Amino acid sequence: ASDKYFLYHGLLLPAVAHNEESLKYACDFKVHDQDVFAVTYPKSGTTWMQEILPLILNGGDLTPVQSIPNWDRVPWLEETRASLVLKGQPSPRAMVSHLPYHLMPPSFFTSKAKVIYVTRNPKDVMVSSFYFHKMASFLDDPGTFDEFLDKFLSGQVLFGKWTDHVKSWYSSDLGDRILYITYEEMVKDLRGVVERFSRFLGRELSKEALDRVAKQCYFSNMKTNPMSNYSLVPQDIMDSSKSPFLRKGIVGDWKNHFNPEQDAKFTAVLKEETKELDIKFPWE
Ligand code: PPS
Repeated sequence: ASDKYFLYHGLLLPAVAHNEESLKYACDFKVHDQDVFAVTYPKSGTTWMQEILPLILNGGDLTPVQSIPNWDRVPWLEETRASLVLKGQPSPRAMVSHLPYHLMPPSFFTSKAKVIYVTRNPKDVMVSSFYFHKMASFLDDPGTFDEFLDKFLSGQVLFGKWTDHVKSWYSSDLGDRILYITYEEMVKDLRGVVERFSRFLGRELSKEALDRVAKQCYFSNMKTNPMSNYSLVPQDIMDSSKSPFLRKGIVGDWKNHFNPEQDAKFTAVLKEETKELDIKFPWE
């Protein structure tokens, strides 16, 4: 790994936003019962959740998502900005995290904090990540698609292997504190999913508020929201002319990228590594 990465429990984290201190902060973090987490493997819908959660928690008020950049609105627990953003923030606090289950702070496990875990077809995750590596100067060049596929399957990518992450969260024992959702369900019926989230979080919204929240969170709207589309980040850090952060926002773009051999290889590895998981994902 290059100096662009910070190694944490064997996982590669982007050094631009993670260090010893930020991970110590995350580990020592005192989780409150009212806290809400959206946990994702990278490129599975994090930015989307940073839009949805504050809208639900604020009763459908659009002000926060129109005035605060997503990273200050719903910070990553493990990133360097977390301590700044979360200091003195009133409940309910919303956070995102890419941490695997066992690396969550000890206080999380004894709290009543709720979690929404978002999963996305790993083939689409890999494609999204491939383009992200091309546009983000703080990450190594992904190499060819074929090379990147091998790195992805072996876990030599941000936050390690997709299968390890998903298995860790799907075998959690959080009972009704956790809601599992897929990116694909969100694409298919965003309004319905927002309604499920609001019920899960005990913050039911009126019909009008549900309409407003769903509309605000459609890809086309987020893409033009400067507080959510990463256009505030300087071009030498994220170069949207190479690939925009909010790139396509669709299901199944992998079909435009994988050749039959790559598809067969990827499918075989994933099948083997998830065989003990008793879940039927919508892409299988
Ligand atoms: S990161 O870097 O981990 O925070 O990335 P993350 O936000 O998890 O994933 C980025 C992908 O999510 C897509 N996205 C959306 N798709 C549909 N609708 C909405 N509203 C939306 N918001 C973000 C984003 O476009 C990235 O996927 P790709 O396939 O690259 O377009």
